[in-house]
Amino acid sequence: MAVTKCIGILTSGGDAPGMNAAIRAVTRSAIYNGIEVKGIYHGYRGLITGDIKPFKTENVSNIIQQGGTILKTARCKEFETPEGRRLAYETLRSEGIDALVVIGGDGSLTGARIFAQEFDYPIIGLPGTIDNDLYGTDLTIGYDTALNTIMEAVDKIRDTASSHERLFFIEVMGRDAGFLALNGAIATGCEAAIIPEISTEIDQLKELVENGFRKSKNSSIVLVAESPTTGGAMQLAERVKNEYPQYDVRVTILGHIQRGGSPSAQDRILASRLGAAAIDALLEGQRNVMVGIRNDEIVYVPFSKAVKYDKPINRELLETLRRLSI
Ligand code: F6P
Repeated sequence: MAVTKCIGILTSGGDAPGMNAAIRAVTRSAIYNGIEVKGIYHGYRGLITGDIKPFKTENVSNIIQQGGTILKTARCKEFETPEGRRLAYETLRSEGIDALVVIGGDGSLTGARIFAQEFDYPIIGLPGTIDNDLYGTDLTIGYDTALNTIMEAVDKIRDTASSHERLFFIEVMGRDAGFLALNGAIATGCEAAIIPEISTEIDQLKELVENGFRKSKNSSIVLVAESPTTGGAMQLAERVKNEYPQYDVRVTILGHIQRGGSPSAQDRILASRLGAAAIDALLEGQRNVMVGIRNDEIVYVPFSKAVKYDKPINRELLETLRRLSI
């Protein structure tokens, strides 16, 4: 097993609160174990352009509480090509970086997987996305903070929804995954969540209206996961205007507010644990795995599973929401 002397760290894809806490944990754990660290800026693009800087412990001081990512991030099209990846590999060689830690979501870990296979190069992934859609880990870094942001926003909308006795569709992020919508709805006492995971099984809007979702209430809030399969909040509101004109309907799209802000305690702790475990993984000779958490224990999930399998939603949550919204 080759000894790891120097690692590179990068953040890629959509930023997520807690990424900085993860950068800090990886950097400090590496240095603690006598491994040199280099920060790679702007995601995979920094590997192609050579935007790289040595990191000492002080480079990651005072960042655990900051949202965003000090390393910046990008969705890099060039890295999707063999030529781009070859350039990235050459940069790694010339910088003397012998392993990579990549913090990102589905797309970023897919890139890591391809690169690792192509060049037989050791990479450890950390799940960094507000969407919580990576298979093999109960939680991803940023999800809890985003959920809390949604909760605060929906609580505020509740005041005006109930004053005006309106039906609100609030669209939340999740890129084709309903974790934020479903758990956000439970946390805010919403009347329903419309999520992609069951879009093909039932007409969720029809079911909602026909089950009399306003039997005991004058206002309602429905969280909608952004996705072509749910139609999104705008499309659902249009349908209500045409099919159920008795409702006074409004739409709020929460958008990128969900990606910002200081990470919650849970995200900081998760990022710190996963970041430290990424270095343990490298020291143990693990490669091409995502470090995740299951039942509060650290697990290593092969990239092939983390990015290829769909993470199922817990259907019990749907039933809980349904019962509590009567
Ligand atoms: O993957 C994180 C995420 O915030 C998704 O929920 C959303 O679909 C997407 O990124 C938005 O990406 P962008 O910031 O590039 O518009």
